[in-house]
Amino acid sequence: GSESKLQLVHKHIRAFPDFPKKGVLFRDICPILKDAAALTAVIDLFEEHVRISHQQVDLIVGLDARGFLFGPLLAQRLGVGFVLIRKKGKLPGATVSVSYDLEYGKAEAEVQEDAVAAGQKVLIIDDLLATGGTLYAACELMRKQQAEVLGCMVVIELRELNGIDKVKPHSVFSLVQY
Ligand code: PRP
Ligand code: ADE
Repeated sequence: GSESKLQLVHKHIRAFPDFPKKGVLFRDICPILKDAAALTAVIDLFEEHVRISHQQVDLIVGLDARGFLFGPLLAQRLGVGFVLIRKKGKLPGATVSVSYDLEYGKAEAEVQEDAVAAGQKVLIIDDLLATGGTLYAACELMRKQQAEVLGCMVVIELRELNGIDKVKPHSVFSLVQY
């Protein structure tokens, strides 16, 4: 059932103090990727959530870089396409961009101008919600493209940083909370 799947996911997340900067407790998802059953559990739980909470999904939109690990797998399950939001300067052709703050720095995110059409219904996916700067930027990019954001999904939510508030009014579904 979902509880044991959640336990399996939980068991495959490690914490590293003071990475990449002093004072940050880094939640490492590499053990999930390394374990076939844990990775399947993540995608199963995301898929169940989408099938229960969202009707028509046109595209999964994933964030550079760790959103790329889960996004395409979920998109395949749902039978929809995957779109990349990348850090500045990585995408060819015409792009739309937005700058944002991170738990440990600043960055700029971009999407190809023709990646999403006006009115398309998208779900945004990443590995982790910290301050919410990254997901907020992704929602901004989708707004600029006139796409409809159905919601956001992450493996891990860091509750004390209140990222949920930053992403409002969009919802953030998470599997594991700290
Ligand atoms: C991390 C993480 C999220 C983001 C969350 O990515 O994978 O994308 O930070 O933080 P926020 O909620 O405060 O915005 P990072 O920018 O470190 O890049 P990476 O995936 O390339 O390591
Ligand atoms: N991205 C932002 N904050 C993070 C954290 N504490 N662990 C892993 N990735 C992060």
